Amino acid sequence: MPAHDVLIIGAGLAGQRAALAAATSGSSVAIMSKVHPVRSHSVAAAGGINAAINVADDWRSHAYDTVKGSDFLGDQDAIEIMCSEAPGEVMHLEHIGVTFHRNEKGELDLRAFGGASMNRTAYVADITGQAILHVLYEQLMKNHERVERYEEWFVTSLLQDDSGRCCGVIARDVRTGRMEVFAAKNVILACGGAGQTYRPTTNALIVTGDGIAQAYRVGAPLMDMEMVQYHPTTLVENGLLITEGARGEGAVLLNSEGERFMEKYAPNKMELASRDVVSRAEQTEILEGRGVGAHGEGIYLDITKVPRKRTLEALREIVNIGKDFAGVDITREPIMIRPGQHYIMGGVKTDVNGATPIEGLYAAGEVACVSVHGGNRLGANSLLDTLIFGRRAGEHAAARSSSMAMPTPPEAQLRDDAAKIDSIIARDRSGRRVSEIKDELGDTMNKYVAVYRDEQGLDKAHEVVRRLKDEAQSAYIDDRGTVFNQDVLGAIELGYMLDCAEAIVVAALERKESRGAQFRTDYPERNDDEWLKHIDITVGTDGPQVSYSPVTITQWQPEERKY
Ligand code: FUM
Repeated sequence: MPAHDVLIIGAGLAGQRAALAAATSGSSVAIMSKVHPVRSHSVAAAGGINAAINVADDWRSHAYDTVKGSDFLGDQDAIEIMCSEAPGEVMHLEHIGVTFHRNEKGELDLRAFGGASMNRTAYVADITGQAILHVLYEQLMKNHERVERYEEWFVTSLLQDDSGRCCGVIARDVRTGRMEVFAAKNVILACGGAGQTYRPTTNALIVTGDGIAQAYRVGAPLMDMEMVQYHPTTLVENGLLITEGARGEGAVLLNSEGERFMEKYAPNKMELASRDVVSRAEQTEILEGRGVGAHGEGIYLDITKVPRKRTLEALREIVNIGKDFAGVDITREPIMIRPGQHYIMGGVKTDVNGATPIEGLYAAGEVACVSVHGGNRLGANSLLDTLIFGRRAGEHAAARSSSMAMPTPPEAQLRDDAAKIDSIIARDRSGRRVSEIKDELGDTMNKYVAVYRDEQGLDKAHEVVRRLKDEAQSAYIDDRGTVFNQDVLGAIELGYMLDCAEAIVVAALERKESRGAQFRTDYPERNDDEWLKHIDITVGTDGPQVSYSPVTITQWQPEERKY
């Protein structure tokens, strides 16, 4: 049986950074991913990474902006760590080969981003995630003797010993269908968020909440799950991301009356208010009949305000997206966008070293909730979160491994998981197709658990999710083979997404106030007296169980949030 000190699940930025940190600490490390690492969803991160690098800036200012962006739900001890360690991390990336954009003086250039009090976003055009991901992957290959790579292996279960300690995983080789037990002293989940729970979403098809659901199923608490971010600028046609970098470079938002409506909602920051504020403003314009497009379903993003040369240089990816997916030359005409699901602030509850309450189980990146984003994440804080907490989790897990013996995980689960896969493959067509259930789930979440929510809609979503959970038990697939059977993996992923959706809806029903990304039209005010607390969700015999945990406040007391 393969055995490793530290086994990392997911090979995006959090996973690769964790692997490199753990290997540097001297552990035997493996990284496993259901796709080739450079196809991880981190590749889609566009606009940049925040760090107080400018001499006129200070990490405390970055931290305050992050606390304010989080609508005071973020844990300030974790935010202080993330922001104070940010400049060093960006410099490290630069030194290992990330070609950040430089200004005429030859210094790292920093662009404006939402919710930030000064320019502090380092970037590589609008392909920052891709640039960092490829450089980290080069480092992994360079360290091939110290980091084993299991590429295109799909985890079906986390394993626990009799004391509940996580001691490995069961995984299926996607290429052959072979299942295997992997022993590990420590497992780090770094396998991303749950964006595919919604339709549309900016997230890749692989972002199906696997790690969130796997941790939840073994008893780890999920935190802040109601906090789902809608990005203000996604293509009306299909939900593709149009980077916030566009607004950072000077693009403006216009309604059907040609009005720069953000003046009404955030007169100081305008288009660069935090994402929850801008998305709500757009949605209000649409609901009040000032949307653009055949059915008034969109808003114009006018990038022609940015000098064409600069757009072609610094926003070249969205130039291509505009042409290829909307037939629009963004250097010459406005493009139609709307708010779309982009990110989940919630996830597996961890401490500042990525440790979960389950011994031996860590989480980092979007799968985790440290919580540095609270009710709303600032743009360009996500890449930072993946790298800072990926590194810390890798280092911590490696240190813990050094004093442990290799566990011997129980193998019975392998037979159960293999039998479950066989039974999915063998299902007749009396139920619904997996993809049909997934579509209904995504549409339901996007209708009722979106920018605006209320009890009636959330109850409806809850009812649908529970019915879909039942229907998923008999849902069928077409592919009956073993080689690259993505169909059967899709059925398992559907189960993960349904668990995540249920946790999101239950938490959104529970939080009877409006804060960050959770706007309840039936409770339109923030209510610090009753709700300045995290909502934790754990699995119970009758479904999700709700409890609360305190928000850590160090130096910034909650205050009214204005942009
Ligand atoms: O708009 C963007 O470039 C997205 C960045 C982020 O989510 O951090």
